[in-house]
Amino acid sequence: MSRSIASQAWDKSEIERAAALGRDLRAQVGGDARLFAARAPGRVNLIGEHTDYSGLPVLPVAIDRSTILVAASLPSLRVTLRNADPSYPAREFVLQTRIPPYPAGDWANYVKAAVQGVIDHFAGRGVEVGGMSGAAMLVDGRVPVAAGLSSSAALTVGATLALMAVNGLDLPPIETASMVARSEWYVGTMAGGMDQAASLLGQRDHALFIEFDPLRARPVKMPSDAALVVADSREIADKSGKVRTEYNRRVVECSLAARLLARALNLVGVRVLGDVVRARKEWNTAALVEALRRAAPERLDPDLLEASALLDAPADVVARDLLGEGAARIALDPARPLEILKRARHVLSETGRVLEAVRALEEGRLDEMGALMNQSHRSLAEDFDCSTARLDRMVECARGAGALGARLTGAGFGGSIVALCRPADASRIIAALVRGYYVPSGLEWQDACAVFRASPGASVIELALD
Ligand code: GLA
Repeated sequence: MSRSIASQAWDKSEIERAAALGRDLRAQVGGDARLFAARAPGRVNLIGEHTDYSGLPVLPVAIDRSTILVAASLPSLRVTLRNADPSYPAREFVLQTRIPPYPAGDWANYVKAAVQGVIDHFAGRGVEVGGMSGAAMLVDGRVPVAAGLSSSAALTVGATLALMAVNGLDLPPIETASMVARSEWYVGTMAGGMDQAASLLGQRDHALFIEFDPLRARPVKMPSDAALVVADSREIADKSGKVRTEYNRRVVECSLAARLLARALNLVGVRVLGDVVRARKEWNTAALVEALRRAAPERLDPDLLEASALLDAPADVVARDLLGEGAARIALDPARPLEILKRARHVLSETGRVLEAVRALEEGRLDEMGALMNQSHRSLAEDFDCSTARLDRMVECARGAGALGARLTGAGFGGSIVALCRPADASRIIAALVRGYYVPSGLEWQDACAVFRASPGASVIELALD
């Protein structure tokens, strides 16, 4: 992408960050190496939570908080990685067909995930890994970490674009989004493709209506009388720890619900709830939930024996289909039953809300959009069990101070809330959150709570340093 086109997406401070990183990297790799800089934003999801891995739509915006990653090619297969934040240790690994991950929780796994994705994708197009160049990379991430705002997707997307640039490889953004959609599988989270697609395809002042299977995205203009307040609970939503276990469990529950529903409705080839919805043009949540209620108990034993009897399939096949195989196999807590009905009810009703939200935003009906966000939060809290007392309190604070709607955003179990409001009400909402949540909880709020703007998606430029 030419510098002039792409760099219009970069704000002045991002260009300055890239230049500072570029000077540092030049000192590391020497004077004449070509330098590339990738900028990748985080995202805040307006509505459509825990729907993407069921192949159902979402409505996020890319945010004006980004990761900048500067890279230069190396005359070997090595990738060296440094972070401007010294709390992230430097790393080094080698490009190869199968790159072994670092232990769970290592920040550089998100870069390895990106590199593995590029190697796998281009191997199918005749690019041998042995013929690729390694890269020296330097990262400056400003997307809040473990806050449900996709700092990990920003890092993965930035590393993907940078590695492709140093190797002279190019793809349209939608294909890049498909390529990185499953990147978190590398770190053991069975996530959908929302975060990476939002980071790559975002547009200034627009939300994105993203659909899956196949991936596609349509920009939806944010009304000029709307503002987004995003507030981090500071309750850690770190997807490499406890949240990963909870998240993967939801993936299993939703896919089991899809298979039970498919059997009840005589549908074949169903893997996820999106397949059921696509097979039934005239679907509605109440009818599908009722069909599921008749077909199976509301919750099932985690040993999957009951599930295999209901599906009339051998238990080992059901377990392999739902949990995966080998090192990546999902481990279920044997003491907790799998919730089927509640999870399906959330995913299906949330899908209906996403479709209504797109129309409400396009027609500027912000009250309705806010009401849909409130309903979404309630469904996530009651049916998906992924809110927390702290997130509920923050949502109440924001609504009490005039937000048109407020909900948890991202995977939940901590992380952030997003509130939709009139621009003139944003400072009152922030003040209410400070008074009603941050101060009583003894938390710093200065960097935790702000008005975010919908920003352009990721891009890469060649850096010309003076
Ligand atoms: C995380 C995942 C996404 C999505 C959300 C929940 O952010 O990475 O793919 O599933 O949770 O909507």
